[in-house]
Amino acid sequence: MSPPSFENASNKREKARAAGLDPNYWYAVEFDKNIAKNQIKRVTFWGTHVALYRDERGSLRAVEDRCAHRHLPLSIGEVRGERIVCQYHGWEFDSDGRLAHVPHDLFGLKVPQCRLKTYAVQVRYGLVWIFFGDREAATKVPLPLIPDLEGPEPWACVPVEFTIKAHHSMIIDNVSDFTHEYLHRKFKPFSEAKLTHLESTDDAVFVEYDTKVGGGKVTGMFVDRRAVDTNHMKLGYQYPYQWSNTDDAIKHWLFNVPIDERTTKSFYLFHFKSFRVPFLPLRFPKRLMVPLIKAANELHVKPLLSEDAVACEAEQEGWERHWDQPVAEISPAVHAFQNLTIRKWEQHLAREAAKKLSKQPLNLRRREEQPSE
Ligand code: FES
Ligand SMILES: [Fe+2]
Repeated sequence: MSPPSFENASNKREKARAAGLDPNYWYAVEFDKNIAKNQIKRVTFWGTHVALYRDERGSLRAVEDRCAHRHLPLSIGEVRGERIVCQYHGWEFDSDGRLAHVPHDLFGLKVPQCRLKTYAVQVRYGLVWIFFGDREAATKVPLPLIPDLEGPEPWACVPVEFTIKAHHSMIIDNVSDFTHEYLHRKFKPFSEAKLTHLESTDDAVFVEYDTKVGGGKVTGMFVDRRAVDTNHMKLGYQYPYQWSNTDDAIKHWLFNVPIDERTTKSFYLFHFKSFRVPFLPLRFPKRLMVPLIKAANELHVKPLLSEDAVACEAEQEGWERHWDQPVAEISPAVHAFQNLTIRKWEQHLAREAAKKLSKQPLNLRRREEQPSE
């Protein structure tokens, strides 16, 4: 038997592991540099496929990945000007998703009136962001803003991407809960962690740890311990995003996009105020920090995060096999993360249900609103 759906879940863990993420936020889906002009990529949010393409003029566009004719994925088609063209019969859809041209015999009929769903797209911090929720809400919900990456002197940052075969809630549990230092006994990104603060609000969970940050050999060489207090770390699950902050000097944001119930794409944006030159009382000049972070990503960050990825994927397997067995979850932080994920998904489902109801004819609505006998 597979784990229950959210509706049939009977306890917190079952709910957390089945919950989606509210589509009415901006989600990072791809690196901007990975989409060339006239290129189309399929991106997926919670099972919904979207064809993301860059038109001839360089603008990014996103349209549902379904031809209105016979439902072929448009992502296997091609770009022509501003339009996306289906591979099969060549039907062309304009930037508003409208069927604009049919290149074959119309049998005396007019071009059918079809319109595909389009999505708002933006680029920030080298990432492409899509708003998968209600189109009207896209203008009201801001993209995440990271002040340290803005302005004339942004901190150095080279995003890292992972696709992990695990539910997004497992990744949040992993990244904000420091009980798993055993997993990282080789790299020691944090050690002897003690939870000193846990606070939940409507939209966020904040935690703080007293812990030795970056105690491993590689990080230890670059962190300037005289200038940075590496004995304390703050983290936030600021729905649906996650961040950490070590003494306002070492930070990260994590942007997850839930592909489906067992796959999550994660973009980690580690950023650093400064780096120490190993063995010398010097700081690296700003211009050298980007290549240095690139090297550190390959040598240190990716191997470290791979440990988390392997653990989360193993947890997913364990969950699917043993979901009906009790778990001994003792971290209050993990309970708080899961509560937030569940609450937000319930709110989303309630809004969707209300929307559906308001679209129904009045007589049907009355019948549904009657209490059942
Ligand atoms: S299926 Fe797309 S044009 Fe026919
Ligand atoms: Fe970890």
